[in-house]
Amino acid sequence: MTVDDEQVGAIGAGLCAFVGVTHGDTPTEAARELDWSRLSDGRAILEAARILEEAGVPNARTDAEILAAHVVGVERPRLGLVPLVDSGVLDQYQSLIAERARRVPLQHLTGEASMGDITVAIGKGVFIPRPETELLFGWSLAYLEGSYHREEPPVVLDLCTGSGILALAIANARPDAIVHAVELDPTALSWARRNAEAQAQAGDTPINLVRGDVTDRNLLSELEGGVDLIVANPPYVPEDTDVDVEVREHDPSMAVFAGADGLSVIRPLVSNAARLLRIGGAVAVEHDDTNGPQTAELFRARRVFGEVSEHPDLAGRPRFVVARREATAAEAAWLN
Ligand SMILES: C[S@@+](CC[C@H](N)C(=O)[O-])C[C@H]1O[C@@H](n2cnc3c(N)ncnc32)[C@H](O)[C@@H]1O
Repeated sequence: MTVDDEQVGAIGAGLCAFVGVTHGDTPTEAARELDWSRLSDGRAILEAARILEEAGVPNARTDAEILAAHVVGVERPRLGLVPLVDSGVLDQYQSLIAERARRVPLQHLTGEASMGDITVAIGKGVFIPRPETELLFGWSLAYLEGSYHREEPPVVLDLCTGSGILALAIANARPDAIVHAVELDPTALSWARRNAEAQAQAGDTPINLVRGDVTDRNLLSELEGGVDLIVANPPYVPEDTDVDVEVREHDPSMAVFAGADGLSVIRPLVSNAARLLRIGGAVAVEHDDTNGPQTAELFRARRVFGEVSEHPDLAGRPRFVVARREATAAEAAWLN
């Protein structure tokens, strides 16, 4: 990009207004130094990070960089390679930073979230996928790769699918899988539909999206005993938990809270997993970090589950539980 003096002045004015430059440089002198790599080194992005930090935004610098990358349309690691930007871009950046400082979630500003190799659309009325759910996703792929040995394509079921991200990331990574996904909230379901259509158009194996209640004892009766892998990131936060502003004001509460103990959805979900899984199939359920042993106990208490294991997140906090559907004595006798 070539930039004449007039444009440089505009960039400088935009930036000075934004970062509140009060030193003696004339706008043009200051503007001459303004290429994006310098901004990412220490000016607009640093100032944006300061604004976000003062507003109490966690990981302020990261968010400042992600929003800068978003406005200039590059991947974050390439920010330093972006040449001069015009004042319109800086204005856009400034207004996004102001919104983030008002604690509008980052993903509502960028309009997207990623898992595995896919990116889905995110916005008002749907739960914002969390990085920790990548662990559940990673475990699922490893399970299908290492522990699934049937010749038929694996049947996978994502309960509480929200934007559909987990189901769609699995369908993307495992085109052979038959993936079903269940969601109760119509708004969330419409985001999932939009994302599922986009992924199918991009060439992924289409998934089967179903409106349903994962606590319903008749859920998906046509799949009974036929599912190889169930994954679920259900609502699981105990009701009296103090959550961040972003969660309180922007995540749908039915996506977050689950009764006084955080287990009101997981409890019936465990029963449905027992009914829907094929013998030998597995289930993995994300839970609140206060509920690791309690979630594991819900599986152990059902005798049809074995090999129950608790899995921590990267910070070492209890994050998801895995269990294997075993045959009851009657089923074993029938099979023999
Ligand atoms: C924590 S969000 C997870 C969404 C998605 N799996 C993810 O990881 O981003 C939980 C989702 O479960 C949905 N949900 C809550 N209760 C449900 C129920 N009884 N049956 C089906 N879906 C439910 C919510 O609407 C929300 O979309």
